[in-house]
Amino acid sequence: MQNPKRYTITAALPYTNGPVHIGHLAGVYVPADIYARYLRLNNKDVAFVCGSDEHGVPITLKAKAEGVSPQAVVDKYHEIIKSSFAAFGISFDNYSRTSARVHHETASAFFKDLYDHGKFIEETAAQLYDEEANQFLADRFVVGTCPKCGNEESYGDQCENCGTSHNAQDLINPRSVITGNVPSLKETKHWYLPLDQYESWLNDWILKGHKNDWKANVLGQVKSWIDDGLKPRAVTRDLDWGIPVPVEGGEGKVLYVWFDAPIGYISSTKEWAERVGKDWEPYWKDKETSLIHFIGKDNIVFHCIIFPAMLKAQGSYILPENVPANEFLNLEGNKISTSKNWAVWLHEYLIDFPDKQDVLRYVLTANAPETKDNDFTWKDFQARNNNELVAIFGNFINRVIVLTNKYYDGQVPEAKDLTAVDEQTLEQLAAFPDIISKSIERFRFREALSELINLARLGNKYLADEEPWKQIKTNPKRVETIMNIALQIAAGLSVLCEPFLPFTSKRLKGMLDLKDSDTLTWETVTDGRTLLKAGHKINKPELLFAKIEDKEIQVQIDKLEASKKQVEKQPLEPQKQTIEFDDFSKLDIRVGTILEAEKIPKTKKLLKLKVDVGIDVRTIVSGIAESFEAKDIIGQKVTVLVNLAPRKLRGVESQGMILMSDTPDGKLSFIEPDKDTVENGEKVS
Ligand code: MF3
Ligand code: ZN
Repeated sequence: MQNPKRYTITAALPYTNGPVHIGHLAGVYVPADIYARYLRLNNKDVAFVCGSDEHGVPITLKAKAEGVSPQAVVDKYHEIIKSSFAAFGISFDNYSRTSARVHHETASAFFKDLYDHGKFIEETAAQLYDEEANQFLADRFVVGTCPKCGNEESYGDQCENCGTSHNAQDLINPRSVITGNVPSLKETKHWYLPLDQYESWLNDWILKGHKNDWKANVLGQVKSWIDDGLKPRAVTRDLDWGIPVPVEGGEGKVLYVWFDAPIGYISSTKEWAERVGKDWEPYWKDKETSLIHFIGKDNIVFHCIIFPAMLKAQGSYILPENVPANEFLNLEGNKISTSKNWAVWLHEYLIDFPDKQDVLRYVLTANAPETKDNDFTWKDFQARNNNELVAIFGNFINRVIVLTNKYYDGQVPEAKDLTAVDEQTLEQLAAFPDIISKSIERFRFREALSELINLARLGNKYLADEEPWKQIKTNPKRVETIMNIALQIAAGLSVLCEPFLPFTSKRLKGMLDLKDSDTLTWETVTDGRTLLKAGHKINKPELLFAKIEDKEIQVQIDKLEASKKQVEKQPLEPQKQTIEFDDFSKLDIRVGTILEAEKIPKTKKLLKLKVDVGIDVRTIVSGIAESFEAKDIIGQKVTVLVNLAPRKLRGVESQGMILMSDTPDGKLSFIEPDKDTVENGEKVS
């Protein structure tokens, strides 16, 4: 769309069943924020909306796991998520939640409207049912084998392995997540959106209409869906957490979470419009509005097929102009996983790096999973900070501010008698707004960011070539011009970095004493000669970026290692039933020493031991051969249960039992006294 009148920018509503991590930030919220900030800097009319997705099975499951109500779960995570976004400068015009009244009303009315206009199919069909839990098993309440790729852990609604979305009944070997039982089938009535009727329209609108401007990964998924043939899709569920189905026969049923959640974009826009005294409708209904959905790749079908079909069915809404979905971000070579705690959580990052929001925004953008899955590593984080932000951007700014203070007491000198290099440098500066715009408008944020760094490089190169620190002695007049031009580049950077690095932009503008009231828009950089007028006084230098040391990175790597260990660790067995002291005093446990040891042939685990237990030397068969070599344990001090009734193992009579404990790596460890002076035969009590 050429020159839309306004923009409605949406970022996927995060599920409120846990905090948000770097994968969310990289895939959805940072790109959406860059785009929104960029448009605002260009004086565009923008509504940037989001909110918490508070319905759906994952939330019910989390509530069950934590033993609290779903409402308590969403209340907790809504606050955490909302404040993490705010802390990272994600500049939503409104952040709502789907439990808000305005949303219940909006989603309910939307459903009712489609129902009244006969847009649904009403059907009673058999669905998976858990007899023991007394519950229908939709979506994430059921897992089984994906009919498409064979993944045995596919959810009822979507396979995380191949991305296919299906109906729970399509799973092979389904089992209930609640009880583990094999579900039975039970009849129930639901309303279906007949997606098959929208197939050719979707084909024309997306695959033909947007074949040149939508991302290849998005078009690819849409095509594969359409090629497979679209089927009617149930938009209601037998659950008790969600928005009640507002029509006759809908008692005890709720709207499918993927029906209500995208309507959350509309409710959030309404909430915002009401607050700022605007009309929400043009943002959703005027053909000259550009609607852009920022999402991750697992959301493509919902934003490119189901939600558009809902909007089309309703009839008065606009459709998305683009859906720039990203691929996934991995962490240190592994898939980010909430359940395995394999993630960098935003609220934790903020504790460890309280003033480095921009560093993370930078690294996540520089390495954004725009066209393929990418990997976040702490080493790369450190390298990009130290080699790019500190060494290029920060270094340039520091030189400019320090020298201006030193030579001119902070006053911008005048530029006179420009050389060809000066002219060229200013022309290059003037070209940057356009270069960066082109990338941003095509949703190529990595490319845009690397151009921004090129502008800082231009500044560094200019200073390195012109060497004001040398010329100040021989040709001080010339240095005034050099510093003036360098200052214009610094000012240009302060404006153009704002979408990417909003905190840095603010600090840099502070150093340059560019007030917010100075109308420095994107456009002003195009005429980069007078961003800072001669005579303008700038402030003292401050550190823009600080080097990150190895030890800070090691802390983060250790933290991840620890969560890996935590996952691998077997859960500890619960305590056994209580016993009386009399029961305990029946046990006769003594300290002993292993005198001989030999492997019992044709067994994996058994060693035949001769043990001196003070009262005698006896034979004990012990299942420790997988943890120890016979020759290594001669002389080992041990504790022995000596009054255990003798039993024969592989033909050898064992007269007692060596006490052992487990180690985290699945091996065994002896229990020995902490002093060598404890003699064989001493009692353990
Ligand atoms: N909650 C979903 C997720 O985290 C995204 C919902 S996007 C919306 O994957 F369109 F439904 F709002
Ligand atoms: Zn699959």
